[in-house]
Amino acid sequence: MATSKKTGGSAKKPAKKAAPKKSAAKTGVKTTATDESVAAADTTTHSAVAAGVPHESVDPAGGEVRRRDFINIAAVSFAGVGGAVVVLPLISQMSASADVMALASVEVDVSAIMPGQAIKTTWRKQPVFIRNLLPAEVAQAKASDKDPMPDPQTLDERTLPGHENWLVTLGVCTHLGCVPTGAAQGEVKGDYGGYFCPCHGSHYDLAGRIRKGPAPSNLEVPKYSFLSDTVIQIG
Ligand code: FES
Repeated sequence: MATSKKTGGSAKKPAKKAAPKKSAAKTGVKTTATDESVAAADTTTHSAVAAGVPHESVDPAGGEVRRRDFINIAAVSFAGVGGAVVVLPLISQMSASADVMALASVEVDVSAIMPGQAIKTTWRKQPVFIRNLLPAEVAQAKASDKDPMPDPQTLDERTLPGHENWLVTLGVCTHLGCVPTGAAQGEVKGDYGGYFCPCHGSHYDLAGRIRKGPAPSNLEVPKYSFLSDTVIQIG
């Protein structure tokens, strides 16, 4: 008996603990608790929707679409603003400033440059040599037109028709960009009577053609024209 009572007692204890779980589902208390849970869940859901967070149980299709629309519109709006911010500086940079435009061309009065003389001027912040060749120098330059040269060119190809005595070149050595001597009075003119670059020993002739040394090409002739017999426009 004692054994059966103990057994029965031990069997009743789990039954009492388990009973509330099983019976509770059928009781009003549990039902009430379930309603509260649902209500609480419902409240949470509505709160989430009210805060703008979509929830499938509330408005799965509409809420999602509206959210995507908002994201797309926001992305396009920011892209548009970003594009404008990037494009404006680019356009600003592409338009040349007034001082650059002013340097695009220069006019030089050459009336004071006597035959046999040369001057240095500047154009676009680069040195420019303007040389008034003596008739003998023109003849000498033409006589050497067909000499072997690293960068063959005739005097006529480097001057304007009717103005073969005026040699206009950049004063920039085509080797590494030094400024050759020979334009100013008393400067070394090199072995060919034109210009000499002491940096590495390049010699240019009376037409500014490279004749000796490491420079690969002739002194560059910029675009220029005669506005009158005594005024040259460079650029
Ligand atoms: S820069 Fe003129 S010879 Fe080198």
